[in-house]
Amino acid sequence: MSGVLENRRVIVTGGNGGIGQGIARGMVDAGATVAIVGRKENVAEVARELSEPGREAIGLQADLSDRSQLKTAFEQAVAGLGGLDVLVNSHGIARVDEAAEHSLDQWDETIETNLTSVFELCQLAGRHMLAQGSGKIINIASMYFFFGGLKVIAYTASKGGLAQLTKALSNEWAPHGINVNAIAPGYVKTNLNEHVWGDPVRSAEIMSRVPYGRWAEPVDMAGPSVFLASPASDYIHGVILPVDGGFMAR
Ligand SMILES: NC(=O)c1ccc[n+]([C@@H]2O[C@H](COP(=O)([O-])OP(=O)(O)OC[C@H]3O[C@@H](n4cnc5c(N)ncnc54)[C@H](O)[C@@H]3O)[C@@H](O)[C@H]2O)c1
Repeated sequence: MSGVLENRRVIVTGGNGGIGQGIARGMVDAGATVAIVGRKENVAEVARELSEPGREAIGLQADLSDRSQLKTAFEQAVAGLGGLDVLVNSHGIARVDEAAEHSLDQWDETIETNLTSVFELCQLAGRHMLAQGSGKIINIASMYFFFGGLKVIAYTASKGGLAQLTKALSNEWAPHGINVNAIAPGYVKTNLNEHVWGDPVRSAEIMSRVPYGRWAEPVDMAGPSVFLASPASDYIHGVILPVDGGFMAR
């Protein structure tokens, strides 16, 4: 898919780690220039790795659960890129606890990070895209939009909300040339779910339900993201696309 995203300006939140980094790599390999936003200190280093001659990646360190940092980082990213064609929201957290013990602080932190900040980023990006009459927004949902999950109650609620947000925005913005879609990754080996792949019993249980027979790697999310960012997906709107090695089909 080399060159399919030439001259496209892309923001990937959480692009400094895990799935977001895999997606950012895919976007760069397809010809895009990227700005990554993440809260860890490695942002600048990852941005250097994502830079190509004539296409310097931008790395911005910001806590997206802080509303003023979010707005500043978004504006800096758009200014640095000279505009915006694609937004990928891949930042997210999962706090693991039984529902009866899950604190309201954990709930608030998760909803703010995984849902409210995604709405605000979509809204900021949407205003740009509405003005230019085109754009692509890709939210990273989860299997836990389809299923309830276990011991991640706030996470599950946030991803359910994110998927509905995706559909609702699509309804309003599709007529204006903006595609709003989501990817629901299956089980991807990242820091976020080390509690799952690090547990041999649970890991084996899950893998027995993945027809493709292995955990996903972050780069497995790159191709579908490039597709959803490219003109090849212009007629796809409001979809929550499972990328799960066949898990949903079992
Ligand atoms: N790993 C999986 O199996 C899986 C499955 C389905 C969905 N997802 C979703 O994919 C997305 C990426 O997760 P991942 O598995 O790559 O996890 P990860 O922990 O490897 O990466 C998450 C990234 O988001 C960033 N981030 C988290 N909170 C932030 C904040 N407040 N401000 C700025 N950056 C922040 C982190 O710094 C990190 O770079 C998340 O939305 C997650 O819910 C993951």
